[in-house]
Amino acid sequence: MTPNKAIPQVKGNFLLGNLGPMSANPFQALCDWQRDYGGLVSFRLASRQFYLFGHPKLFEQALIKQGDVFVKIHDAGKPTGLALVLGQGLVTSQGDLWQRQRQLMQPVFQRSNITALLPQIATAGSNMLDRWRKLGEGAEINLSREMMQLTLEVITQTMFSTSVLDKIEQISPSLDTLLRYASKTIVNPLTLPLYVPTPANQKFKQALGIIDGVIYGIIDQRRTTSCAHNDLLDKLLKASDDNSGEKMTDKQIRDEVITIFGAGHETTANLLSWTLYLLARHPDVLAKLRQELDGLLQGKIPDAEDLQQLVYTRAVLNESMRFRPPAAFILRRVNKDTEVDGYFLKAGRLAIFSIFNLHHHPDFWPQPEQFDPERFLIPQNRRFSFMPFGTGERICIGSHFALLESLLLISMIVQHYDLQLLNTDEVEIEMAVTLRPKGGIPVRIKRR
Ligand code: HEM
Repeated sequence: MTPNKAIPQVKGNFLLGNLGPMSANPFQALCDWQRDYGGLVSFRLASRQFYLFGHPKLFEQALIKQGDVFVKIHDAGKPTGLALVLGQGLVTSQGDLWQRQRQLMQPVFQRSNITALLPQIATAGSNMLDRWRKLGEGAEINLSREMMQLTLEVITQTMFSTSVLDKIEQISPSLDTLLRYASKTIVNPLTLPLYVPTPANQKFKQALGIIDGVIYGIIDQRRTTSCAHNDLLDKLLKASDDNSGEKMTDKQIRDEVITIFGAGHETTANLLSWTLYLLARHPDVLAKLRQELDGLLQGKIPDAEDLQQLVYTRAVLNESMRFRPPAAFILRRVNKDTEVDGYFLKAGRLAIFSIFNLHHHPDFWPQPEQFDPERFLIPQNRRFSFMPFGTGERICIGSHFALLESLLLISMIVQHYDLQLLNTDEVEIEMAVTLRPKGGIPVRIKRR
């Protein structure tokens, strides 16, 4: 097909294009443009042109059928966005390096392996609930902070057989700084390069130093012990290239560890926070969920077989990921001139794929602004209208892990605690790579 359709361009400022609304609130700007202009729209941030995709048909034609044209944006020599933090780890690398590392790490994330990790995840959950009990009846906590801490403990215990909770006061604000900065370098191309000593650049470097200290600490600690842990870190340290027999460099191991450390907890923490928040706002859904959990589990911690039977709990998690997808936008670069559904796309431009828009598209989701887990009880083909874990060859490696972890932890929390929202206003969405509850979620905890 020859391209014959014109891509609408978002109206903007002569000099800066659409930089104003994008810098002020990127999440809102992307949603507004999609609503006003449709499934494919073009916008400009200063001199950088972007495409914004938000329709299942276009996702399929670009990400599945032309996965080799819509590639990761990262350039090892000139890193930007997440690559500034993650280097050449699995999320940000490309080509042979990505292929080799994905093959190496894939077995760790297979369902059978993840099932074996359930007891460790349950221990982290029980420790948090014990801590809540000690805080006392009616204590006030910030749910988002608690979920970050919980999923950080889960990922470091299961993948690296260690805990970094004693450093949480340094880790949380540093990760926050890194993600915000990474996001800013994409949404504001006028951000000055890191070698310019602006306060923001210095803050970023300081935060990176702190997180690097934690990551190299985990690696060094392992190198001094001789016993096998059979975890992901052992696998990374032992791996050698099939042809050359060479081991991974320290920098490459650091990049993979920080990638799993970050990607493995931030998204799941957001899923848990949003889900518990939505349950607190929808008592009818919470009652139905408890009916399933109380009936099947009677207060116990579920094992792998129990988890398979939690049909409504799974529907609640799916609806939560539809409504508030933790990873709501996927970024790619168009690496050659191409055509998608009759539209011409130019090489070199960046493409943002809005999972959020897919999940709220009225043609595919009746009453999309209603939180309604029942819709996931009806079998339906949602291959291109529901993709919280992405699609194509770069689909999330940790999807089974995240789902089992969330099923287990939600069932533990909901069985034993009532969470009362301290703020009755709706929590706003904030985008800093992932979709977070803006300002956190303050709640009062009460044992059931
Ligand atoms: C609810 C939780 C999670 C969500 C919503 C989520 C979402 C996603 C999405 C949308 C992508 C694709 C990004 C792209 O195409 O550019 C992705 C990739 C990835 N995720 Fe997840 N993720 C979650 C949990 C996890 C966990 C628990 C881990 C690790 C333990 C993990 C590790 C990764 C990695 C390494 C990639 C890059 C895969 C590759 O490019 O080969 N994620 N994730």
